[in-house]
Amino acid sequence: MNTQRLVLTGELENDELCFKEAAGFIKRGGNVTFPTETVYGLGANALDAGAVAKIFEAKKRPTWDPLIIHISSLEMFRTLIKSAPPVLDVLINHFMPGPLTVILPKSENVPNETCAGLSSVAIRMPAHPVALRLIELSGTPIAAPSANLFGRTSPTTAAHVLADLDGRIDAILDGGPTDVGIESTVLDLTATIPTIVRPGGITKEQLEGVIGEVILLDPTKPISENEVFAPGMMHKHYAPNATVILTEGTNEALSQTIREVLQAGKKVGVLLPDQWQIPDNVLSVSWGTWRDQKMLSHTLFSGLRFLDQQNIDTIIVPQPDANGLGLAIVDRLRKAAYKSQEAAE
Ligand code: TXA
Ligand code: MG
Repeated sequence: MNTQRLVLTGELENDELCFKEAAGFIKRGGNVTFPTETVYGLGANALDAGAVAKIFEAKKRPTWDPLIIHISSLEMFRTLIKSAPPVLDVLINHFMPGPLTVILPKSENVPNETCAGLSSVAIRMPAHPVALRLIELSGTPIAAPSANLFGRTSPTTAAHVLADLDGRIDAILDGGPTDVGIESTVLDLTATIPTIVRPGGITKEQLEGVIGEVILLDPTKPISENEVFAPGMMHKHYAPNATVILTEGTNEALSQTIREVLQAGKKVGVLLPDQWQIPDNVLSVSWGTWRDQKMLSHTLFSGLRFLDQQNIDTIIVPQPDANGLGLAIVDRLRKAAYKSQEAAE
């Protein structure tokens, strides 16, 4: 399959053509990757089981892992759900469009393939003009997982998408790098108390500020001990090819680990907070200011992907505090490192 590049330039004529072509693919049951404010998504008509099947195939994603449906209006939202608790209105007012996905009982309009046979559906309205326009022009809700091969780091640029999926998808709508850099928060509203099944761009603190108590599923617990099953909670995910080692969030702890890994004869790369000191001969990529969680989120996946291309054995990363956006950052880092812990045990 020849993957068509549709590059948005800001020139009206070019961009009109790109959107028209992209929407054409969606309407004909094909798939298109597109930017959202979080990461790039691999989209297809959410109401067309055949189109959705091609997403799973392109990503090599197991069919038991349900997709998020992206909408551009509240009218579209209503057609996808059977019912909603009153708290939904509050969430819509505060966080939509934005990096929040809600899980609700699904309506019969949604094919089982999109939701992996579950009776619930995950929905979000992205805060990105390109994503919203594509959905609107396609005239249908768009199912879209992150546009990476299953288990790999989510893409925040068109180049990341092509590294994983070139030749496996119909087209890519290139709208530049994404802003947030990590995926949306997935909030289950079918649970008795709203439950975060994946931390992301909207923080637990922000949610609690407007809807009160929110439960956080503990991804370190076995799935059977958690109230809700969330397929995305698998331990290994976001995995670079290199081994990932996490350290405590201090310059001293980072330097100590670097010395140990170098002594073991490994080639090392570091995701390095600005102003932190490490030995000169060690490869690093700038991660941004340590206390600036937005910046750390924004560069996390691109930093990991960059390091993974540098022919090194080990990526070493200090862990930020697990509050605010730090919770989602730590979640992604632990999953990226899981393979490595397993191998070490
Ligand atoms: O920011 C994002 O959310 C990006 C952009 C493209 O919108 N999308 C994304 O999709 O990260 P994906 O497929 O990579 O992750 C969706 C997560 C998965 O962990 C999936 O298991 C979970 O949401 N999910 C989807 N539907 C669900 C449902 N009905 N119940 C529980 N979990 C669900
Ligand atoms: Mg994903």
